[in-house]
Amino acid sequence: MSVKMARPLSLIFLHMIHRVSAADWAVNYSFPHICALKDSSVIMSCTYTYPTGHQIRKAYWTKDPVKAVEPTDLSVDPEYSQRLQYLGDEQQNCTVRLSHVTEKDEHKYYFRFNTDKIEGRWLGSPGVTLNIPDIQLESPERVKEGDSVRLTCRSSCELTDTPTFIWYRNSHTLTEGTIGDKLILNPVRREDAGRYRCAVHGHTLTSPEVYLNVTYPPKSVSVSISGSAVIMSGDSVTLSCSSDSNPPAEIHWFKGKTYIGSERIFNISKISSDDSGEYKCKTRNDHGGKYSYPVTLDVQYPPRNVSVSINGSAVIMSGDSVSLMCISDSNPPALNFSWFKENQSSAVGSGQSFSAVQSGRFYCEAHNPHGAQRSDAVTVTVKGRPLILHISIGVGCGAAVVIMMLLIWMQKRNDTVELQNQSRLHHESSNKFTDPVYENVKTNPSRPHHDSGDDMTDPVYENVEISEADLIRSAVHC
Ligand SMILES: *[C@@H]1O[C@H](CO)[C@@H](O)[C@H](O)[C@H]1NC(C)=O
Ligand SMILES: *[C@@H]1O[C@H](CO)[C@@H](O)[C@H](O)[C@H]1NC(C)=O
Ligand SMILES: *[C@@H]1O[C@H](CO)[C@@H](O)[C@H](O)[C@H]1NC(C)=O
Ligand SMILES: *[C@@H]1O[C@H](CO)[C@@H](O)[C@H](O)[C@H]1NC(C)=O
Ligand SMILES: *[C@@H]1O[C@H](CO)[C@@H](O)[C@H](O)[C@H]1NC(C)=O
Ligand SMILES: *[C@@H]1O[C@H](CO)[C@@H](O)[C@H](O)[C@H]1NC(C)=O
Ligand SMILES: *[C@@H]1O[C@H](CO)[C@@H](O)[C@H](O)[C@H]1NC(C)=O
Ligand SMILES: *[C@@H]1O[C@H](CO)[C@@H](O)[C@H](O)[C@H]1NC(C)=O
Repeated sequence: MSVKMARPLSLIFLHMIHRVSAADWAVNYSFPHICALKDSSVIMSCTYTYPTGHQIRKAYWTKDPVKAVEPTDLSVDPEYSQRLQYLGDEQQNCTVRLSHVTEKDEHKYYFRFNTDKIEGRWLGSPGVTLNIPDIQLESPERVKEGDSVRLTCRSSCELTDTPTFIWYRNSHTLTEGTIGDKLILNPVRREDAGRYRCAVHGHTLTSPEVYLNVTYPPKSVSVSISGSAVIMSGDSVTLSCSSDSNPPAEIHWFKGKTYIGSERIFNISKISSDDSGEYKCKTRNDHGGKYSYPVTLDVQYPPRNVSVSINGSAVIMSGDSVSLMCISDSNPPALNFSWFKENQSSAVGSGQSFSAVQSGRFYCEAHNPHGAQRSDAVTVTVKGRPLILHISIGVGCGAAVVIMMLLIWMQKRNDTVELQNQSRLHHESSNKFTDPVYENVKTNPSRPHHDSGDDMTDPVYENVEISEADLIRSAVHC
């Protein structure tokens, strides 16, 4: 059947003359299509027949014959001469070997023979088509983490011998998941992303590299703060949000719950205490979103707005005290305070509160590790009883004591006189019945009266006694 296709016209002519059956002239190629790896040796198996009575004059291989042009013998072609080896014979075996094949050898090869007879020229169709395949790695361009992925190593023609494939990721040989011409990653992990290629064991043939892009939602989202550990008011602070995601995530910054920006880096130049708070970033891509842990910015500053607060009135009575409090806004809170009295160089007190007992203008100074600030002064007035009042009280007391003493003395004197008068009357009235006892009484007139007065207290005398105690007390007061 091959004869029909490629038999040269001359041969047809000859056959017609000699009425030779087509079966007499034949070339049989065992493998009309050969797919061979680069650098390998190819054996083109071939048998041929020709009518008896012919003698082979020339048997050779040629390629890509052109009609009506005598085919060239490859064994004289410098491209082939070194690599072509005829393994056949002059009877029926026309097998040939071509070594170190390359892409340049991709042609159609034919066996050609000539016999001693003029009509004995034969070109065996359909020839042998030689393909030198390359290999390609077929892989989805992009896969989602967790999916099942199949990579296939394909050659552009079906290799006659099933080769052993070798797989590489980022130039490292892979052994797991390889089945024949397939590499199965199930489930695919993000670490599986990389440059893949496959190769044929024992050959230099290797596929081009294919990047396997494994996409995944953001993971390990974190915020980092540039600069020193202690943030001072006025510093420049850079917050950066980092996340591991593929494709890269969109970033959203939040302070508390308020959205504040969408750059990967969030800059705060000249930070102020208003910028203190919790910051976090949210990262999102097609596969999901994730928040970072919040970071707290604690903006520190020296004491400010220092003032003195007075508990109660700043006007106090002598002997009382007023409590002054040093109020300050500072971060970290001020723990060290000093109190001063205006126009006195040394401190008059320490501690957040101070008890003022003197008049004067007082101010405090609040300290924290970043500095100190003083307050405005407050005036404390101590109102004593005025000096003139003291004197008048003193004089008054003295006078009172003197007057009292005088009164008591006078009272006592009156009493005695009165008693004497009474006893004299008594004596005169009892003159009628003179009694020796009464006589005795006479000598000490006040005595019996006093004795008899034991049961009934003399009101005058009692009053005097009370007044005396009072006087002593008021004198002490004075
Ligand atoms: C060609 O060879 C094959 C196997 O070698 C054989 O089966 C076939 O019959 C042969 N054909 C001819 C025309 O000789
Ligand atoms: C042809 O010759 C080669 C090499 O000697 C041999 O391997 C092959 O078997 C032979 N083919 C036939 C059909 O005899
Ligand atoms: C992977 O695919 C994503 C989505 O198209 C793309 O944004 C990203 O750049 C790719 N990664 C690489 C390393 O090519
Ligand atoms: C943030 O500040 C850094 C350093 O000052 C600067 O390099 C960067 O460009 C700034 N980024 C933005 C988004 O302003
Ligand atoms: C505190 O001081 C700052 C300036 O130092 C001022 O802007 C702010 O209004 C003050 N706050 C109060 C409550 O006085
Ligand atoms: C004022 O002093 C009283 C008594 O010591 C105390 O209970 C109160 O809390 C103080 N008030 C202020 C504002 O300091
Ligand atoms: C408080 O501050 C003053 C002034 O800076 C300093 O002399 C003193 O040692 C401080 N006291 C304490 C307990 O820190
Ligand atoms: C403190 O001294 C200043 C001048 O140095 C003076 O003007 C002020 O009246 C003084 N204050 C007091 C309470 O003495």
